[in-house]
Amino acid sequence: MLEVKNVRVKYDTATILDDASLNVEKGELVGLVGPNGAGKTTLLRAIAGLINWDREVLRGTRKSDVTFEGTIEFEGERIDRLSAFGVAKKGIQLCPQMGRPFPEMSVKDNLLAGAYLCKSRKEVQQSLTRVYELFPRLKEREKQLAGTLSGGERQMLAVGRSLMRRPKLMLVDEPSSGLAPKIKDDLFKRVEEIYKELGVTILLAEQDISFAFALSKRNYVVSRGHIIAQGTAQELLKDETIRKTYLGM
Ligand SMILES: Nc1ncnc2c1ncn2[C@@H]1O[C@H](COP(=O)(O)OP(=O)(O)OP(=O)(O)O)[C@@H](O)[C@H]1O
Ligand SMILES: [Mg+2]
Repeated sequence: MLEVKNVRVKYDTATILDDASLNVEKGELVGLVGPNGAGKTTLLRAIAGLINWDREVLRGTRKSDVTFEGTIEFEGERIDRLSAFGVAKKGIQLCPQMGRPFPEMSVKDNLLAGAYLCKSRKEVQQSLTRVYELFPRLKEREKQLAGTLSGGERQMLAVGRSLMRRPKLMLVDEPSSGLAPKIKDDLFKRVEEIYKELGVTILLAEQDISFAFALSKRNYVVSRGHIIAQGTAQELLKDETIRKTYLGM
């Protein structure tokens, strides 16, 4: 479904991703694990077409430049030259790290903003119902301003908003970061439900190895911009160097 080949991203002279390749099959949940600054977010942003966006923005300022090399295919089509909007229209949705809602808008309006690719009012309503079933807490707080939500609720809103568009592939960036164990468990179950029951294919970036490994079928390990290993949780944990050096377990 998704095929990333030899992707390299450079901001000025700093190489952030080097020769990164990975693939995700339809119906899989694939983990992308690695420590702070490894390049997980950059890889998800590259898939979502946001490096192209950076390039346009930076070119405008003439202060720095960004280079993108490599190819990204989705359902057999090249998507690496599309805008972020073009990528979203293909059915790929990035669920950003730390949520980032529109703070001055209500929870419900944030969700509706996520539905901009829905074709009809009925579809929007169905998506909203589905998100509220998944996250009753968002329903309870639908009128509250998103900027006043707790960290956990904000994360739920980010996942909910990404689902509104009914994506085929969701790129979920560290949903568990900064959450208390109980909320983390709850979010874990919701991500599992999205993948198993709603049938959404997921590429999940996580620093929390146990969170990713408990959900994923396969994983890629990223370190300093390189994908240094791939395999099932069991395979990766069996390799002592990977376990100690890269997974810190
Ligand atoms: N726009 C940018 N300009 C310059 N450097 C950048 C830019 N975006 C990211 N980087 C750098 O790229 C490296 C990788 O960052 P990235 O956010 O992809 O890591 P990450 O694996 O997601 O880390 P974390 O787990 O902390 O979220 C970091 O050193 C970061 O400072
Ligand atoms: Mg990140």
